[in-house]
Amino acid sequence: MTAGDAPGGGTDGGTGGRRPGGAASGPVRRLPWQALADVAAGLFRKRGLDPADARLVAEHLVRADARGLGSHGLLRLSFYLPKLDAGTMSPVTSLSAVGGVPGLPLLSANNGVGQVAAAQAMDRAMRAAHEHGVGALLVRHSNHFGVAQLFTLQAAETGLIGIVLTNASPAMAPTGGAERLLGTNPWSVAAPRAGGAPVVVDMANTVVARGKILSARQEGRAIPEGWATDAEGRPTTDPEAALAGMVLPMAGHKGYAVALAVELLTGLLGGAGWLDDVHYPGNPDRVGNVTHLFAAIDPDQVGGPGYADRVLDAATRIKAVRRAPGVEEVLLPGEAEARAERDARALGVPLAPEVVALVEGYADEARILCPWPRVWAQGGAR
Ligand SMILES: NC(=O)c1ccc[n+]([C@@H]2O[C@H](COP(=O)([O-])OP(=O)(O)OC[C@H]3O[C@@H](n4cnc5c(N)ncnc54)[C@H](O)[C@@H]3O)[C@@H](O)[C@H]2O)c1
Repeated sequence: MTAGDAPGGGTDGGTGGRRPGGAASGPVRRLPWQALADVAAGLFRKRGLDPADARLVAEHLVRADARGLGSHGLLRLSFYLPKLDAGTMSPVTSLSAVGGVPGLPLLSANNGVGQVAAAQAMDRAMRAAHEHGVGALLVRHSNHFGVAQLFTLQAAETGLIGIVLTNASPAMAPTGGAERLLGTNPWSVAAPRAGGAPVVVDMANTVVARGKILSARQEGRAIPEGWATDAEGRPTTDPEAALAGMVLPMAGHKGYAVALAVELLTGLLGGAGWLDDVHYPGNPDRVGNVTHLFAAIDPDQVGGPGYADRVLDAATRIKAVRRAPGVEEVLLPGEAEARAERDARALGVPLAPEVVALVEGYADEARILCPWPRVWAQGGAR
């Protein structure tokens, strides 16, 4: 384990530079998407991102919150802004060729912003898919890119299949171990569905994404049993102890095995770093050293026209399955997130008050106006 990333190092599980304060804990607030994205984009522009890149990261963070993935939404300003301030993440993101083969180029993100690198990389994979039926590439020396599904959706929303894998900083122990060494290493596959939102599978290989424990700590909530152990390997419901400890792999040993499979296809294949060579995104003192794999497939070129109709057929049959007692509806992966996003676009993006306070704190510091009513610790708006 690398100094500065160790559980006792004081940075792991932290929010980089800041814990929110000033706002009372209270109900989730819905704030306008555009206003949030404008403020977040302003914060990134102030740190040297060009306007298009700043807008892209801001939109990704807001969209994560909109899709109910708040653990990877605006909360992550507290990771990315301190890294930009500290110079451990570059505000300029340019992909450069460093190796690979024509069918699988290897690019470097040159320690740029993960979301920008990922969006650019998926764009290249999509262009190759249109031309050859499939496109794939590896991007190393990148940073945490947030929610994997936003990049697979980038492909699926245009009729392609999107595939994304990424390694991540250590969060889980290999089965039988009591030291975290593997990342949550999330992966996503998204496929177009005729007449509806894409089917989107997106998961970390731990019981939950580590960010959900971070959200619980941020909001002062205990975590459910079975999510994590403390640093000694004892079960815990205390998010602080869990962040200093280990998240449990999903499905027992299988989560460990899948996380390792992702590492085999990212960090080890790209050659830049693996296991604890990848550094925690909340640590402003270290570069991330993250490697991602992107692929896009034009399904109609591969399996004949009508792929999205075939996905619709499968989806319809899955949703029509006989249900277990007490279950109202069988969901498809990505369905709840698509509904949450639809609601967020109509009603505003749901944010915990602590996250609103975090955004406002950064905005105040940068003298950026937050165009929504302010709520202060004693209640009341001004
Ligand atoms: N960048 C990183 O390093 C990193 C690390 C970890 C996680 N993440 C992100 O965190 C997010 C959350 O990850 P997670 O593992 O907690 O995901 P999750 O457990 O919330 O969801 C996993 C998958 O299950 C599907 N799902 C959930 N309930 C369902 C149901 N009842 N029926 C059908 N499908 C259902 C979801 O749509 C999703 O595809 C992901 O977007 C992931 O990419 C990122």
